[in-house]
Amino acid sequence: MASGKTAVGRELARRLGWQLFDTGIMYRAATWQAQRRGVHLDEHESVAELIRKSRFQLRPPAEADSVELEVYVDGENATPHLRNPEVESGVPTVAAIAGVRALMVQIQQNQAAQGCMIVVGRDIGTVVLPDAPVKIFLDASAEVRAQRRAKERNQDADRASVLAATNRRDELDQRRAASPLVAAQDAVELDTSDLSLEQAIEQAVQIIRARLPAPVSVGSGEA
Ligand code: DC
Repeated sequence: MASGKTAVGRELARRLGWQLFDTGIMYRAATWQAQRRGVHLDEHESVAELIRKSRFQLRPPAEADSVELEVYVDGENATPHLRNPEVESGVPTVAAIAGVRALMVQIQQNQAAQGCMIVVGRDIGTVVLPDAPVKIFLDASAEVRAQRRAKERNQDADRASVLAATNRRDELDQRRAASPLVAAQDAVELDTSDLSLEQAIEQAVQIIRARLPAPVSVGSGEA
């Protein structure tokens, strides 16, 4: 959501020596699968049926310096395709299909049971891992998120349209019937609008230190 959750999650995972599971990749991979198999995204039942029949696997990163899990669909690494414009525009539709979400949530729960990891996503604290020991709800104003997105994509020239697209996507994510975007009651809310990435990471580290039952060594992240 350009609230910085992936960037913050990635750095936290590094400092903790854990893996990062960014669950957005699951919905992106499902979208990519439907598109490459020629299933129309508005045919929700067909999409859910295809996803049910497809094999999703999460694997450790291929690159030695990465901490992010990668997703394979029917044996093929979907990761390089997940930021395609086609996937980008189709993913809110697929993420709103209840049948798809049910399958994805199951895979995510199985994965999270493998050990300590940073799990990033909109419904993690509420639906996927309601018993997670630490929950952080990152947020930022739509304006700031649009700016960050435009910067990520080197699209400084067209901020207005990125802001409009950001608002549209937020609205779809918040309004959908299946797992709408809300903070868990026991989540710590962290607004990153006025924070640098480094400040947001620092605050997240403090939250984890204060909340984890056993002391966890959180490195500085410096080499
Ligand atoms: O975080 P992201 O941009 O990679 O997410 C892509 C899409 O997937 C977005 O429409 C929200 C959706 N998503 C979701 O509904 N639940 C999650 N746990 C993760 C992502």
